[in-house]
Amino acid sequence: MKTTTESFGVTKDGAKATLFTFTNDNGMSVSVTDFGANVVKICVPDKNGNIADVALGFDDVKGYETNENYLGALVGRYANRIGGAKFTLNGTTYEVDKTNGNNCLHGGFKPYGAMMHEYELNEDEDSAGVTFSRLSPGMEQGFPGNLDYSVTYTLTNDNEFIIEYFAVSDKDTILNLTNHTYFNLAGEASGSVYDHLVWIDSDSYTPTDAELIPTGVVAPVEGTPLDFRTEKPIGRDIDADHIDLKNAGGFDQNYALKTTPGDATLVATLKDPASGRKMEVYTDLPGIQFYAGNFLDTKNGKGGHDYGRREGVCFESQFFPNSCNIPAFPWKPLKADEEFNSITVYKFISE
Ligand code: BGC
Repeated sequence: MKTTTESFGVTKDGAKATLFTFTNDNGMSVSVTDFGANVVKICVPDKNGNIADVALGFDDVKGYETNENYLGALVGRYANRIGGAKFTLNGTTYEVDKTNGNNCLHGGFKPYGAMMHEYELNEDEDSAGVTFSRLSPGMEQGFPGNLDYSVTYTLTNDNEFIIEYFAVSDKDTILNLTNHTYFNLAGEASGSVYDHLVWIDSDSYTPTDAELIPTGVVAPVEGTPLDFRTEKPIGRDIDADHIDLKNAGGFDQNYALKTTPGDATLVATLKDPASGRKMEVYTDLPGIQFYAGNFLDTKNGKGGHDYGRREGVCFESQFFPNSCNIPAFPWKPLKADEEFNSITVYKFISE
C-alpha cells in the first residue's frame, strides 16, 4: 500500500485543500480530499490491466465549491429529500433549507461536500485510508444538535473501497449520511451508462409524488421496469412507460434492502461488459438510491470534460428519503449521545 499527499488548490475563502491518494498492491487507487470529504478519483484496472478513473469529478478544489450535481460528495446532514423541507422532532417543527423547489435535497444550501474537514491518515499492511471529521454546529442547515461526525475511507488489497460513517449528537436529531459518487466503469467522460448492467437485490421500492417525495408506500418491483433482480442494461427500460420513471425522468428510485445494521451485505452490482470492470455494492443501511444521472449536467469536470445526462450512475446507500416524516419507514431519530455507525463498500473486480 502507498499513500501520497498533495495540494488540491485553495478555496475562495483561502483554505488549502489536500488530496490524499491510496494505491494498493494491484495498482488500484482512490483519491479523496479534506474539502467536503469528496471522493475525487477511483482508478481501476480492466480485464486487460488497463487503468481508468471510474469516478466523475474535478481536477481541483474549485469544482467542489460549486458542485451542483454532488459529484463524489459526502452528503449530510440528511441525504435525499425531506418533503416540504420540514420535520417534527420531540414536538418541535424544524424548517430546513429549500434546496429543491419546496423541498430539502441533500442537506442544505451549504452541503457537507462543501465544508472543510479535519483529517487523520490510517495505514495498515493490507489497507490505507483517512478519517475526515467535523463538528456540525446545532441548527446548521436548520438541524438541531451539535453533531460530531466522521467518515473513514479505506482502500484494501482486495480492491474494496470502504466507507464508514460515525456520528454522535448532544441533542436528539435526524441523520442520513450517504456518498454521491457517480460511476462510469468505462472511465469518466466516456459517454452514457446505457450499456452498463445492473443487479439490485430488492423486491420493493418507495414510489414518489411528482416532486420525488416518497408517498409512504413500499411497492413491489415485480412486473415493473424497476425490477433489477435479474441483471439488465440500464438503457433497456430507463424510458419505459411507468409513472415513477416519468416523475424522475428515468431511474432515480430508493430500493428497500434486506440488510442488518452493522453487517455489510451485497445489495447491488454494476458491470461494464466492454471493459470487464465490475463493482459490487455492500451496505448495512435499509435503502439504496439507484440514480442513473438523469439530471446530470456538469461543465468543466476532470480534464475539462463535460458530464451530461446519464453519463454516470450513483448507488447511494441511505435511510429511505423523507423517513423523518414517514413513521412507517425503517428509521429512527438519532438520540442525544447515541453513537451512529454505518458501513458501505464498493468492491471492484475485473472479469
Ligand atoms: C437524487 C436525484 C438528484 C440528485 C442530485 C440524487 O440523490 O435522487 O433526484 O437529482 O441526487 O444530484
